[in-house]
Amino acid sequence: MMNVLTILIWLVCFYITLFCDKANTDKRGSFNNSGYSTKYYHEIGYIYTQPPMKTSVMSMAAYDMEIAAVQCLFTCQKENSAENLNCVAVNFNSENGTCQLLSNQPVYKYDECVVSDDHWTLYMEEPIKFPRDCEDIRKRTLDQYYEIQPDLDKPPFSVLCGIGPSMATYIQSHKSSSHFDFQNATWAQYRDGFRVYPPGLSYYWIGNENLHTLTSSRDYTIDFLCRVNRTFSLFILYSSILVGSEADFYRLNIGTCAYRTRDILNDAIWVTANDEAKINGSVFLTHENVTENACARQGGWWYNNCTNANFNTANGNMFWGSYDCSYGKIRVLRKKP
Ligand SMILES: *[C@@H]1O[C@H](CO)[C@@H](O)[C@H](O)[C@H]1NC(C)=O
Ligand SMILES: *[C@@H]1O[C@H](CO)[C@@H](O)[C@H](O)[C@H]1NC(C)=O
Ligand SMILES: *[C@@H]1O[C@H](CO)[C@@H](O)[C@H](O)[C@H]1NC(C)=O
Ligand SMILES: *[C@@H]1O[C@H](CO)[C@@H](O)[C@H](O)[C@H]1NC(C)=O
Ligand SMILES: *[C@@H]1O[C@H](CO)[C@@H](O)[C@H](O)[C@H]1NC(C)=O
Ligand SMILES: *[C@@H]1O[C@H](CO)[C@@H](O)[C@H](O)[C@H]1NC(C)=O
Ligand SMILES: *[C@@H]1O[C@H](CO)[C@@H](O)[C@H](O)[C@H]1NC(C)=O
Repeated sequence: MMNVLTILIWLVCFYITLFCDKANTDKRGSFNNSGYSTKYYHEIGYIYTQPPMKTSVMSMAAYDMEIAAVQCLFTCQKENSAENLNCVAVNFNSENGTCQLLSNQPVYKYDECVVSDDHWTLYMEEPIKFPRDCEDIRKRTLDQYYEIQPDLDKPPFSVLCGIGPSMATYIQSHKSSSHFDFQNATWAQYRDGFRVYPPGLSYYWIGNENLHTLTSSRDYTIDFLCRVNRTFSLFILYSSILVGSEADFYRLNIGTCAYRTRDILNDAIWVTANDEAKINGSVFLTHENVTENACARQGGWWYNNCTNANFNTANGNMFWGSYDCSYGKIRVLRKKP
């Protein structure tokens, strides 16, 4: 009895799939993906495991996918050249207009229509004008400000980029000798960011709005460097970082400690004397917020109770755990897949 019913249902589905859905799709005419492809470059990075669906009876979604795949292949052909003969288009998503093109181009290149990441390349109708973050900028000899655009729906902004093989994006840099009052900087200053001109490392804060945009665009690790003196520094790396929006008071969502040098006790984010001092999940507060939390008097930072680490205090008062820092810096690096 069950089996007969199952077969019957299957036949009805088969009929609907074959005739009704296909007819509906035909009425829509040719597929038009313009207006989509420039937006969704975040798609890059998915690992291709399945070939595009190719069955004789297709659901409507699969039928759309087939049309889209043809479009993608056509795009691929346009992109194919002597250097790039391996373009394969797969997994077009007709809901959000994303399309994956497999290519042998290893490096993300802004200012081009073809944007690649580790495994995937995406065709863009308009060239990408800005790097996503400092790691996309290859030729670099100085710590310098660069325009980046982590989210194509938001305007680009300028950040301090480090040198060296990792080419991190800086969040903060604060030397004791700087001429800036980190302690009493306003909510608006922390939101928008501040720094010295001309470029240098004396003081810099990326701006909470930019920090939110950057960390919500892709996955990053975050590290903190506390220079105690000329021969001794603490370095601590956390596995992830996500900072909320202004509406959520730039709430901190930080992963656990993944690496640290020397002093195993100084995971000041998570290992604190009392639970109240752990700052994950806390909102950002500035001196204007002392009525909400008196700890905010220390300087713009994330507070639950008064924290065990803060680089945004007055010059000379920066600390990480039990150590005083003469120089503090915070950086993010893209998480390796
Ligand atoms: C495709 O869609 C875009 C945006 O909706 C529209 O401007 C354009 O005219 C369409 N192209 C064709 C060929 O229909
Ligand atoms: C597009 O849709 C697919 C399938 O639902 C999803 O995996 C992907 O993350 C979406 N991409 C974007 C940029 O929204
Ligand atoms: C640097 O700081 C460390 C840790 O506090 C200390 O052991 C060392 O003596 C200091 N070195 C100098 C040169 O002050
Ligand atoms: C950190 O805080 C966020 C809220 O901002 C929370 O979602 C997350 O689970 C917390 N992480 C850990 C490891 O507790
Ligand atoms: C902290 O102060 C700023 C500036 O006055 C304000 O916008 C924000 O809502 C305050 N935060 C909290 C948690 O009340
Ligand atoms: C911070 O914690 C201490 C004791 O752990 C407590 O007495 C104090 O009220 C807390 N302060 C805030 C602002 O929560
Ligand atoms: C911040 O303001 C407080 C209160 O006015 C003041 O005592 C403190 O010295 C100021 N901090 C700096 C670094 O100037």
